[in-house]
Amino acid sequence: MLNLRSSCRKRKKQTNVGETMEGSCDDKNCLSIISRFRETTATDAQKLTDGVRLKNSDVILPWIGYGTYKLGKEIARDCTLEALQQGYRAIDTAFIYGGETTERQVGLAIQDAIDMGILETREDLCIITKHWRKYHGYEPALECLRLSLTRLNLDYVDLWLMHWPGPAWKTMNRRKDEMAKHGEWHYAVHPQDELPDIRAETWRAMEDAYKSGKVRAIGVCNFTIQHLERLKGTATIWPPAVNQIECHPIFPQTELVKYCTKEGIVVQAYSSLGGQDVGKKYWRMLYPLKKGQKVKTDAVTSLLTAPPVLQVAEQVNRTPAQVLLRWALEKSMVLVPKTSNKGRMVENAKALEFSLSEEQVAWLDNQFQKSLKRAAETEGVKIESLSRLCWKNDPLRDLDFE
Ligand SMILES: NC(=O)c1ccc[n+]([C@@H]2O[C@H](COP(=O)([O-])OP(=O)(O)OC[C@H]3O[C@@H](n4cnc5c(N)ncnc54)[C@H](OP(=O)(O)O)[C@@H]3O)[C@@H](O)[C@H]2O)c1
Repeated sequence: MLNLRSSCRKRKKQTNVGETMEGSCDDKNCLSIISRFRETTATDAQKLTDGVRLKNSDVILPWIGYGTYKLGKEIARDCTLEALQQGYRAIDTAFIYGGETTERQVGLAIQDAIDMGILETREDLCIITKHWRKYHGYEPALECLRLSLTRLNLDYVDLWLMHWPGPAWKTMNRRKDEMAKHGEWHYAVHPQDELPDIRAETWRAMEDAYKSGKVRAIGVCNFTIQHLERLKGTATIWPPAVNQIECHPIFPQTELVKYCTKEGIVVQAYSSLGGQDVGKKYWRMLYPLKKGQKVKTDAVTSLLTAPPVLQVAEQVNRTPAQVLLRWALEKSMVLVPKTSNKGRMVENAKALEFSLSEEQVAWLDNQFQKSLKRAAETEGVKIESLSRLCWKNDPLRDLDFE
């Protein structure tokens, strides 16, 4: 296992979990760990080691980290190593990524980076991984963490997230016709009405993992206000440090973000650049070709080529990706853009170098809401069904449950 943290962590754990832990330890080694990252606001952040301090924890989570979804087994190690080489210090991975292969590749990349002198120690990093929904419940959740740590070859992670509020499925091979016949809960392991209790048990395991020092902070992903309110009723550690959610100008999740801010939950946005799950067909629906426009040259094919983003990019003389990342930073969201391209890693980090005005942010929001409204009317569907870009083929995405 890589570099154990100093023993001061155990002493720090004796403090009340509701209090901020800064300054609660006089161990010099510990303070040097903390000082590797600098606490700033999103607007003041300049470097990839500048971040936000998480609740109930001494973790400073960098404003921009590196996402590893869909990197694939062959390139995950090299890409993660390249990201570390380019200065990224927060790596976002998950138990399930790459069909359960990515964590191992990330672990190898960390070891490579230490061997090559890119990192001095493991403490230079902020490693995020996620519990998988197949492992809901107290014992299964701890087993999931044990597997993640083994795969990552680490003795702790900096942030452990519950990937989904539930439910667990019996199988990955779900059939739409079967679900139509037997109902959308057909493949769920637990009955719908037991879900809040099972989730509470998963959280209790996460709290215990936190208390044992195996994770430095705990949080959730894809939680709605309803899920968070339910959890609040049973949690002994509240709030979750982070809610990692899909967020971009097409799906700004304004009410949820407001709620998280009020509760002290850091919002970590994913798919900030439009994600990897929707294709050209979706964009053609949102931006139909106008008379005289050509598919080859004029069609919108991604969020990065959407006209409002291009227009603001031109105004501020930045790239579309930088505009989208900056949009989120202006709303104080933490980011984990994914790219397998070295030049884009550098480009994305430069979102820290400029700002957007309030008017530009509001204008982007407005433009996309207008396009969504128009597309929803044309398609005869609700706006909500068009605004999510991620998890497109997962029927769980549209399940409404407590
Ligand atoms: N908690 C959850 O449920 C959840 C769900 C989804 C994602 N996530 C996390 O969030 C991370 C980011 O989200 P995401 O992977 O969905 O997608 P994303 O960050 O929105 O990226 C989408 C695509 O944009 C391209 N890209 C990146 N930088 C670019 C640039 N500067 N210019 C042009 N294209 C660029 C990338 O392609 P190339 O690789 O070809 O550059 C990538 O495939 C994930 O990797 C994962 O860690 C979490």
